[in-house]
Amino acid sequence: MNTTKPRQSSPMILYAVMGMTLAVLLIGAGAFMWLSDNGSGGIGIGGPFTLQDGAGKTVTDKTFRGKYMLVYFGYTHCPDVCPTTLNAVADALDKLGAKAKKIVPLFITVDPERDTASVVKQYAAAFGPEFVGLTGTPDEIATVAKEYRVYYAKHPTGPGPDDYSMDHSSVLYLMDSDGRFVAPVRADLSSGEMASNLSKLLG
Ligand code: NI
Repeated sequence: MNTTKPRQSSPMILYAVMGMTLAVLLIGAGAFMWLSDNGSGGIGIGGPFTLQDGAGKTVTDKTFRGKYMLVYFGYTHCPDVCPTTLNAVADALDKLGAKAKKIVPLFITVDPERDTASVVKQYAAAFGPEFVGLTGTPDEIATVAKEYRVYYAKHPTGPGPDDYSMDHSSVLYLMDSDGRFVAPVRADLSSGEMASNLSKLLG
C-alpha cells in the first residue's frame, strides 16, 4: 500500500465516480428524449440496410415495406436485457390482437461473429413465429447500427475468444410501412405499457 497517497484522494475519486455516473445517466435520458422529440423522422433514424435472414437469404429494409417494423438490436448470448425485452414485445403483440398483424418485429444482432443466420433464426423463433432474426457481416451490422444510432461494444469477460459480452443500447424503434421512423419505444416498459404505446402509434 502506498502510504504517501494523500488522504483526500478517496473522497475525490468517489465524487468523480458519482459525477461520471450522473453524466452517463443524463446522457442516457437525454438521448432517449432526443429520439422522442421528433415528429416524423426529421432527424433521420433508420435507413437502407442489407442483412441476412435466418435462412441466410439477403433481405433489405424494402423487404418489409407495407408493415411497421419494430426494430430491436441485441445479441443472442445476452443474459437478461434482450430476452426480457423480446418477451415483453411478444406479450405486447399478443395484447394488441389484430393490430399486431401490422407489425413485423425485427431482431438485429450486434454480435455477428457468434450470431450466424441459423442462430438468429432459432433465437427469434423462440419469441414467436412472427419474429425475424437478422444478421450480417460486421460491416453490414455496423452500417445499420449507425443508421439507428445504436451503440454497441465488445466487452471481454475472460481469456478465450468466446469470452465476451456485448454492451449495447436498448431501444425499440417503430418504423412505418414506408420504412420511416415513427417513434422510439422504451424497451424497459411492461408488455401492457408497450402495447398501449404501440396501439397509439399505429393509430
Ligand atoms: Ni442484450
